[in-house]
Amino acid sequence: MPTQKHHFSSPDETAAFARRIGARLTAGDTLLLTGDVGAGKTHFARSLIQSLLETPEDVPSPTFTLVQTYDSPVAEIWHADLYRLSDPSEIEELGLRDAFDTAICLVEWPDRLGDLRPANALDITLSPGDGETDRHMTIAWDTGLWEQKLCDGMP
Ligand SMILES: Nc1ncnc2c1ncn2[C@@H]1O[C@H](COP(=O)(O)OP(=O)(O)OP(=O)(O)O)[C@@H](O)[C@H]1O
Ligand SMILES: [Mg+2]
Repeated sequence: MPTQKHHFSSPDETAAFARRIGARLTAGDTLLLTGDVGAGKTHFARSLIQSLLETPEDVPSPTFTLVQTYDSPVAEIWHADLYRLSDPSEIEELGLRDAFDTAICLVEWPDRLGDLRPANALDITLSPGDGETDRHMTIAWDTGLWEQKLCDGMP
């Protein structure tokens, strides 16, 4: 599985990278955001989503709603936090399965997806670094689709 590794030393650096990935996304792209509580999954997702919105909007953590959706000129955006998911059947009820095909999806706590994990998703793992605002990110993918999107002109 091809991977990329990044280091960010501030929330702004993480946000800048999120915007760069965001600029390459189209309908049907799913980003799976893995990492412990406070790793920066929501910060990354919020930065990415806000960079795609035509009119500025708050992007709250979907901790309790499980899913928040946004309209963007590129595609509908689904931001999910599955931490509190009680049963995988809820994924279908939420409409997330269809959204994987038609929207840009950002999913926190994707381990809850089980078999419904989209095969062509981009895996993003965030972990803490030495300093309080240091974060390590590993990006992994299986399909050539991401090869093109990420490696074409992206350091
Ligand atoms: N380099 C960094 N990148 C991202 N966030 C950072 C960084 N440095 C500090 N932070 C801070 O870490 C916190 C990350 O919180 P966030 O809500 O994004 O975590 P999370 O991974 O979504 O946690 P949860 O599992 O509870 O949803 C924010 O307060 C953010 O400002
Ligand atoms: Mg979060």
